Amino acid sequence: MHRVDLDGEIALVTGAASGIGRAVAIELAAAGARVVVNDLDAARSKSDAVVAEIEKAGGSAIAIDADIGIEAEVDRLFDRIRERLGGLQILVNNAGIERNHPIDEMSLAAWQQVIDVNLTGQFLCARGAIREFLRRRGELPEGKARGKIVCMSSVHQTIPWAGHANYAASKGGVMLLVKSLAQELAAQRIRVNAVAPGAIRTPINRAAWTDETARAALLRLIPYGRIGAPEDVARAVLWLVSDASDYVTGATIVVDGGMSLYPSFATGAG
Ligand code: BGC
Repeated sequence: MHRVDLDGEIALVTGAASGIGRAVAIELAAAGARVVVNDLDAARSKSDAVVAEIEKAGGSAIAIDADIGIEAEVDRLFDRIRERLGGLQILVNNAGIERNHPIDEMSLAAWQQVIDVNLTGQFLCARGAIREFLRRRGELPEGKARGKIVCMSSVHQTIPWAGHANYAASKGGVMLLVKSLAQELAAQRIRVNAVAPGAIRTPINRAAWTDETARAALLRLIPYGRIGAPEDVARAVLWLVSDASDYVTGATIVVDGGMSLYPSFATGAG
C-alpha cells in the first residue's frame, strides 16, 4: 500500500478556521506536514482551536491570521512563514466567501468582496507561494515536485448559478487561473491543481442543509444521496499535494456526489 507521507513538508492552508479548510489542515497534519492555519483575525480563536486539535493528535501547526484579499497582508503572511518556518512546499488556496444577491440588487461592494477573496486572494497567495518555492533551487529526485498548489474551486466553475453571479464568476476564474499556472510552472516542477466540491456541510451553506425544505431540494440535486462532509474534500486535497499524484498537474478533481452530472437527465427522459 502507498502510504501518503508529508513528513517535513510545510503547508499553508487559507481559510482554515472552519469548514473545508479546517478539515484539510487536520488531514495534512495527520500525514506529517507542519501546517500554517490561516484565517481572518476575527476567526483567531477558531484558528487556535484547530492548532490545539492538531497538536493534541501529535501533529504540528501554527496559526497566522491575514486577510488574503489584501496584498500587504498576504506579503506579511509569507514573511512570517519564512521567519518562523523557513520555507513552504504546499499551498492550499481554500479561503472563500459568498455574498448572494439577485443581479439587479447586487452592489459593487458585494461583487468586489467575493472577487477579492475568491479570485484575487488565490492569485496573491499563489504568487507568494511560487516565489517561496522558487527560492528552493537545485536538483530534485524524480517523483518529487518543488512545490504543490491546490486551489479550492467549486462545481460552480462550470455550473451557472442564478443569484450567485459573483461567486460563479470567481470560481470560473479560478478554473483558468489553475490551468494557466499549471502550464506556466510545470517546467519548474511546480504542480497546480484544483478540487471542485459540490454541496459540503460547512458554515458557508448552513441554510441549505439545516432547513428541512431547502435540504430536501438540495438532495434532489445530488445523485449520490447525501450532502458531503469536509473530510470528503480533504482526502482529495491530501492526494493532490502528495507525491502519489506527482504526474498530475492542471487537473480538477470534482468531489460532488454526482451533482455536476446533470441529475435532471438521470431517468433518460427528454
Ligand atoms: C457553494 C455552496 C453550495 C455548493 C453546491 C459551493 O461552491 O459554496 O454554497 O452548496 O457549491 O451548489
